Amino acid sequence: MIVANRLPVDARTLPDGATEWVTSPGGLVTAMESVMRHVDSGAWVGWHGTAGEAPEPFAADGMHLYPVALSAEDVEKYYEGFSNGTLWPLYHDVIVDPEFHRAWWDAYVRVNRRFAQAAAAATAPGGTIWVHDYQLQLAPEMIRASRPDVRIGFFNHIPFPPVELFSQLPKRNQVLRGLLGADLVGFQRESDAVNFLSAVRHLLGYQVDQYTATVPGIGSEPARQVVAKSFPISIDTAAISSLTEDPAVRERAAELRRELGEPDKIVLGVDRLDYTKGIRHRLKAWGELLRDGSIDPHDAVMIQVATPSRERVEAYRQLRDEVELTVGRINGDHAPIGRPAISYLHRSFDRRDMTALFMAADVVLVTALRDGMNLVAKEYVASRPDLRGVLVLSEFAGAADELRAAILVNPHDIDELKTAILQALKMPEDEQEQAMLSLRRQVLDHDVQAWAHAFLGDLESAGRPEEIARPP
Ligand code: ADP
Ligand code: G6P
Repeated sequence: MIVANRLPVDARTLPDGATEWVTSPGGLVTAMESVMRHVDSGAWVGWHGTAGEAPEPFAADGMHLYPVALSAEDVEKYYEGFSNGTLWPLYHDVIVDPEFHRAWWDAYVRVNRRFAQAAAAATAPGGTIWVHDYQLQLAPEMIRASRPDVRIGFFNHIPFPPVELFSQLPKRNQVLRGLLGADLVGFQRESDAVNFLSAVRHLLGYQVDQYTATVPGIGSEPARQVVAKSFPISIDTAAISSLTEDPAVRERAAELRRELGEPDKIVLGVDRLDYTKGIRHRLKAWGELLRDGSIDPHDAVMIQVATPSRERVEAYRQLRDEVELTVGRINGDHAPIGRPAISYLHRSFDRRDMTALFMAADVVLVTALRDGMNLVAKEYVASRPDLRGVLVLSEFAGAADELRAAILVNPHDIDELKTAILQALKMPEDEQEQAMLSLRRQVLDHDVQAWAHAFLGDLESAGRPEEIARPP
């Protein structure tokens, strides 16, 4: 049983009033959808993406989906508020200021309880519940209270901040206790697990021994052990490999190059339009390279794919305005007649188009200022069986722990970023092959199935339910 804020599909209402289901945005859904495709009769509790009543549970792709309702007020206070106005910026190094409002916290508690109840009601006796991400940190403890018979895992897809930052969070101890309701708490990076365990030790005063925290029992309850470890998430490499062999996808990649006027080099960025992704830094570097003549816009084109995201949150609106203004300026100043210096695409694409884009790109720029993992970096590598292409990767993305053969950069240093882009554009083919080979070894050997297997294997041994009680 998966529990995540979002279902794998979002409901969209068409002009004629009918409902259309489209893939939900983001890396969590990309990864978990692939995992669930290999599971018989899996189930997923989540929100269907619009405010109002929830549709009845339904089946899709062999999965049972249990929609959870969020009212307009829940969306504002729990989703846009505490999740994306407080936790998201706080957990991503306060790139923008987190806001704290008590009414947001109340909504967070209320909605976490609703998800916990939905999961508890739909899980078989002795089953396994896997809760995902920062929106649902209280759910593990709430599920445990009503279903002590189930194993509970939690995976945090985003960074967990150092205790000095985490301590700013009002209600921080409730959040830690919520997470400690799980038997196993998984993180992207080793440093995230260390940060969490150090918060548990310093703020709750619980005993921590290497990867294990001891949660004292209340009254006659025995103490419990909770394991916290890193499990770097990955992608469905087999699915991407088979797309790269599809003649229609290959033709699409060639067509993209023709449509851009056959430039020598295509440089690609693919991100949700989020301030954590360093899109402004990337555009600044690209604009300066054009201005100082290091790049000729007749030779090189940048494509920036920016998925619409969290559009009612002020910091996201501002980011969109700034990005679109900058792209317009750079194109106005530098684009040759009839062709862009930056091709900016503010919409979603299907997996085939995404793979074609990766196959067409000579350089991919991942310049996140902070990112839990960044699946785009791994998707690019998986899309290059020809061993061509260069990945420029921020050292602040979780993927940098594994993808050491990328050109690693500090995206805050615009000069360094410019040098890295030029290095990538000029890299000889034999060097590209050598680096790509090493990157591919890492990504192909550690796919998302292996990740899920590792987590669930550890959960099996971590969860030791004291007694098998009957579900309510
Ligand atoms: P995040 O989870 O923060 O959005 P990731 O890089 O980990 O970042 O995951 C993003 C996922 O969304 C990737 O699988 C990527 O291919 C996909 N994606 C990003 N932009 C688009 C888009 N415009 N259309 C379709 N898929 C996209
Ligand atoms: C990141 C988060 C996910 C989230 C996704 C899309 O991947 O880790 O939890 O679902 O972004 O964001 P959204 O707010 O649209 O769900």
